[in-house]
Amino acid sequence: MKLGVRGRLFVTSAAVIVGIGAGAMGLAEREVRRVLGDWTATHLQAEARMVAPWVRTRPAGEVIEIAQGLAHATGAEVAVLAGAADARSPAALRIVADSTKRGMDGDTIAGLPEVRAAWIAGEGRWIGREKCASPVEHGVPCVEDGVAVALRWKDPSGTGIVRLRRNLVEVNRAVAYVRRVLLLAGLVGLGAALVMSGLASHLLSRTLSRIVERSRAMARGEGGRIVVPPDDALEGLAGSINTLGAELERTLDETTRQRDLLATVLAGMADGVVALDRDLRVTASNPAAEALLGVPGHDARPFLIEWIRSPDLLAAASRARDGVPDEAEFDLPWPHHRRVLAGAHPLSQGGCLLVLRDVTETRRLEAVRTDFVANASHELRTPVAAIRASLEALAEGAASDPEAGQAFLEAAQRNALRLSRLVDDLLDITRLEAGRREVTPAATALAPLVASALGPVRHAAEAKGLTLVVDVAREVEACVDPAALEQVLANLLDNAVKYTPQGGRVEVAVARETERIRIEVRDTGPGIPPPHRGRVFERFHRVDPGRSRELGGTGLGLAIVKHLVDAMGGDVSLECPDTGGSIFRVRLPAIEPSSTCHQDATDGR
Ligand SMILES: Nc1ncnc2c1ncn2[C@@H]1O[C@H](COP(=O)(O)OP(=O)(O)O)[C@@H](O)[C@H]1O
Ligand SMILES: [Mg+2]
Repeated sequence: MKLGVRGRLFVTSAAVIVGIGAGAMGLAEREVRRVLGDWTATHLQAEARMVAPWVRTRPAGEVIEIAQGLAHATGAEVAVLAGAADARSPAALRIVADSTKRGMDGDTIAGLPEVRAAWIAGEGRWIGREKCASPVEHGVPCVEDGVAVALRWKDPSGTGIVRLRRNLVEVNRAVAYVRRVLLLAGLVGLGAALVMSGLASHLLSRTLSRIVERSRAMARGEGGRIVVPPDDALEGLAGSINTLGAELERTLDETTRQRDLLATVLAGMADGVVALDRDLRVTASNPAAEALLGVPGHDARPFLIEWIRSPDLLAAASRARDGVPDEAEFDLPWPHHRRVLAGAHPLSQGGCLLVLRDVTETRRLEAVRTDFVANASHELRTPVAAIRASLEALAEGAASDPEAGQAFLEAAQRNALRLSRLVDDLLDITRLEAGRREVTPAATALAPLVASALGPVRHAAEAKGLTLVVDVAREVEACVDPAALEQVLANLLDNAVKYTPQGGRVEVAVARETERIRIEVRDTGPGIPPPHRGRVFERFHRVDPGRSRELGGTGLGLAIVKHLVDAMGGDVSLECPDTGGSIFRVRLPAIEPSSTCHQDATDGR
């Protein structure tokens, strides 16, 4: 059984009270016995001394009378032994008178300790317990306390011993009285202990239950303090718990703050973050990771392999879990094809953290760059080789032949021109792709711009007998960078004139749509076969590379066109009608009367 505070206090007090009571009882009983025994013995001794002169001088018959008289008067048992003067031991004496009811013979009396002591020293006494006259009373063994004294005399006429004995019934009475008093005191003490322990436990448990209640509230994360009176026994404990509670609250606040900060950082991160436990199960993930992997936010702790089926990533995660940071790059086929670079970092509490970065665009740009360098080198090699060959031929003596020398010089010149055009275009496209070419839109009248762009091709068109048609109203304006748009038109017109055979027709038309200006460059050339239509705007993409090079093309014209039009907030498209020829269509922002051109175009980009 579990004892409460009250029970324990009571049991302790009761044990103390019973212990002290029992000890006090034992001591008191011993003392009462000793004092009463001594006192009785002294009295018996005095009586013995008084009676001794009488019995030693009287005849035997009188001695019996004296003994009985004394026994009657004092309530003591009286025995008288007498014998010859030269008796050598008390056993040699005979009983002269005996008022005892015990019927002891001479030897028995002679063997009693007080008698033997008196024989040697003249007087002897004994205090102790012995069997009652009838040793069994009502079936219970009976013992009684008794005091006995013996006195010896010796003179020439004879020797004798007087023995007096009395029961110490007063002792038992006194002890019983002391017992009663102590028992009563004990009971009163127990009652007091019960009341005191109840009171103490009540006071204690009131504070304790307050402490318990507060502690529970603290565990639930509620604030507050335990208030106890300043002299309460549990003041110290309450103080400690208050301190603990304040510390807990502070730690909790700090933890909450850190957690919120972490959650905000994770939610705002562009990189995906996935935390894994020791079994490589997902324990947490941020929105970027969930979007990248196309998984629900709160799944029931799936294994990593259920989210991403990449052996490389699994190996990296395992290594990080074992404490070694690692990296893996893999393809995600779903929900979109993506290239992902994952950093796997060990976590101090076990498991690991994956940081997923979408490197699809980076890798694509890297591939484009490599591709570009390879293509550009290839393009540059052709005119350089041609120039070198011409110069070598001239050096080896062709210069001395006027006709051949002229031909080689012209070839070198043509290729040098092509080389310079190629370098110009390469510079242009590189600047555009790097975003380093500034495009500044401004309100621009289109008619003069078209006329200016036609200038360089007019001669070639005439040489091929092409009809040039321009259909642009004088007042049409667009929100464009004039230099950029002129470059766009020059490129489109150059292609149209270049690829349209003899006797064909090239047309430039400018028309106003609702919010845009539409510029079309049409020709009656061969058109562009469907598989190439989407790709002619890519760098170095040509329908017929041999013919393009022969005509001095760089393969970069349309790519530059597309970049410039995009930069001005417009779009360019290609249409090849069934009737033949090509239509390159450019749409650009028109000028709104309500707003300025510059902002409009910049916003449109
Ligand atoms: N008007 C056109 N008619 C037919 N084919 C064209 C026309 N414009 C462009 N092309 C095709 O598109 C390719 C890419 O054009 P472009 O980028 O200007 O390079 P190029 O230097 O070859 O002219 C050309 O090589 C040509 O095959
Ligand atoms: Mg071109």
